[in-house]
Amino acid sequence: MQYRKLGNSGLDISTVGIGTNNFGRRMDLNATQKVIHKAIDLGINFFDTSNTYGNQLSEEYIGKTITKDIRRNIIIATKFGMDMGGIPNNIGASRKHILEQVDDSLKRLNSDYIDLYQIHVPDPHTPILETLTTLNDLVRSGKVRYIGCSNFAGWQIAQAMETSRKESLEAFVSNQPEYSMLNRSIETEILPACENYKLGILPFFPLANGFLTGKYKRNQPPPSGTRLSESAESANTYFTSKNFDIIEKLEQLANDANHTVTELAISWLLSNNNVSSVISGATKTSQLEINAKAADWDLETDVLDEIEIILNSKG
Ligand SMILES: NC(=O)c1ccc[n+]([C@@H]2O[C@H](COP(=O)([O-])OP(=O)(O)OC[C@H]3O[C@@H](n4cnc5c(N)ncnc54)[C@H](OP(=O)(O)O)[C@@H]3O)[C@@H](O)[C@H]2O)c1
Repeated sequence: MQYRKLGNSGLDISTVGIGTNNFGRRMDLNATQKVIHKAIDLGINFFDTSNTYGNQLSEEYIGKTITKDIRRNIIIATKFGMDMGGIPNNIGASRKHILEQVDDSLKRLNSDYIDLYQIHVPDPHTPILETLTTLNDLVRSGKVRYIGCSNFAGWQIAQAMETSRKESLEAFVSNQPEYSMLNRSIETEILPACENYKLGILPFFPLANGFLTGKYKRNQPPPSGTRLSESAESANTYFTSKNFDIIEKLEQLANDANHTVTELAISWLLSNNNVSSVISGATKTSQLEINAKAADWDLETDVLDEIEIILNSKG
C-alpha cells in the first residue's frame, strides 16, 4: 500500500481507503467486520463514514470493530450536517448542532477523537465563521484532529479558506466531491480551488456505484445482490449506450495491460496528485483485494492519453 499526505496536513493516509456507506445498510456486523479486518491486513488505514450512514450503524459497527489497541493505526473520517430528523436545529453546521453531533459520533465510534471531521454538505443558513470557530474549538479540545468539507463549490472553498486565514482558525485540509471517470464535473471549478488551497481530494462514487468495475453488462440485468440491482433509478442513469461503449473500451485497455478495469478506474483518479485517497465502498473482502492493488499501477502518459480519448469519445 502507498500513503499520501492528506492535502496540506502532516497526516499519512492510504491511497486506497474505504468508504463505509454500505455498513449497517447493506452489510450486517459480521460482513462489516470481515471487510474492516481485511482492509487493515491490506494496509488500508483510511476509513470514511458519516453520522448518517446505515442509520448510524456504520459508525457503530466501526466502533465495535476498531479496538483500543488498533485505534492508533487507523484514520477515521466522519461527517456531520445532514438532516438527523424531525426537530429544529437537528441539521446543518450551527455551533449547537456540531457540538451535539460530535459527541454522538464519538460515542458510536467508541473513540476519544475523530481524525478528520467533515462538513457533509454546505449549510447556506449558518455563517461559515460560526462553523469554523466551532470546528477550531473542537481541534483545540482534542476531540477532532483535522477538519474537511464535502460537496463544497469552488467559491465556498475559497470563502472558507480565506475566513480561516483571516481569523487564524483551523482550515480545511480536504474536500470530498463526487469524482470518477464518468463524472468529471469538478475539473472546471472545484479541482482548481482544491489545488490552489492544497486541499486533498477524497472522491466519492469513484467507481460510479460499481459501474466502473465492468460487472454490469450491456443488455443484461444487473447481477443479483449488487448495488445497482437494488435501485432501478440509479441503474437507469448508468445503463446508457454511451456508458457501455466507454466501459467496454476501458475494459479492453485494462485487460491488454494485464489489469482489471476497476484498477484502471482507481489508478486514474490517483494519477492526479491532488487526490489523497480513493474511498471505494467494498462489500466483500475479494473486492478490497482488487481495489488495494490498484494503487500499485502507476499509469503512464500513453495510457492516460488513451483514457482521455475514450472518455471524450461521443459513443
Ligand atoms: N460526501 C458525500 O456526499 C458522499 C456521498 C456518497 C458516498 N460517500 C462516501 O464515498 C464512499 C465511496 O462511494 P460509494 O461507496 O458510494 O461508491 P463507489 O465506490 O463508486 O461504489 C461502491 C460499490 O462498488 C462496488 N465495488 C467496490 N469495489 C468493487 C470491486 N472491486 N469489484 C466489484 N464491485 C466493487 C460495490 O458494489 P456491490 O454493492 O454491488 O458489491 C460497492 O457497493 C462511500 O462509501 C462513502 O463513504 C460520500
